[in-house]
Amino acid sequence: MTNQQEFKSKIKRVLITEAELQERIKHAGSMLSEEYQGKPLLLVSILKGAFVFLADLCREITIPCEIDFMATKSYYGGTTNCGTVNIVYELEHDISQYHVLIVEDIIDTGITLKDVVKKLKARNPLSLKVITLLDKTDARKVEFEADYTLFEIPNEYVIGYGLDSGEYYRNLPYIAVFDEKR
Ligand code: IMP
Ligand code: MG
Repeated sequence: MTNQQEFKSKIKRVLITEAELQERIKHAGSMLSEEYQGKPLLLVSILKGAFVFLADLCREITIPCEIDFMATKSYYGGTTNCGTVNIVYELEHDISQYHVLIVEDIIDTGITLKDVVKKLKARNPLSLKVITLLDKTDARKVEFEADYTLFEIPNEYVIGYGLDSGEYYRNLPYIAVFDEKR
C-alpha cells in the first residue's frame, strides 16, 4: 500500500454503516442470549475475518459463554466446485460438552463453512449452529445455509469490519464495496 490516497480511492462506497451493523448485532445478541439461556455456549470464530464481528457480538450476549478460535485454509479443486478445507489452527475445547455457535464474517461460495460444519459435527457437539454477518447468496457453489444471517449482500467484493483485501482494510468500522479496478 503506497499511500493514503490510494488506500482511500479503493473504498468504492459504504454498503453497511457502523450504526446499521451495531443495531443488527444488538438484536442478534439478545436473541442468542434467550436461545442459549442455561446452556453451555461456545462461540467459535474462524480467523481472521470474523474477529471484529465476534468482538461486538459477544459483548451483546448477556449469558455466560466461552470463546474459541480456529483457522482454515481452502484448497479449491481446479475447475470443480468441491473444495476442501484444512484446519490449520485447532480449537482448544472438546466441543462434545458444548452448544457450539460458529460466528462467521461472510458466506461466499459456501465451501468453507460446509466443510467446517461437517468436520465439527463429527466431534458430536450438543448442538451446532452458524451465525453469519454477511451472506452473498448469489455466489454459492455448494448448498449451504446459515441458521442466522444479519445482512444479505450483492455479489461484490467487500472490505472492512474484519474483512480484508490483501490484509488491509480490516480496521474500517463499516462494510464497503472494494473497487477492484482502480
Ligand atoms: P467461502 O467462499 O464461502 O468459502 O468463503 C470463505 C472466505 O472467503 C470468507 O470467510 C472470507 O474470509 C472470504 N471472503 C469471501 N468473500 C469475501 C469478500 O467479499 N471480502 C473479503 N473476504 C471474502
Ligand atoms: Mg472467514
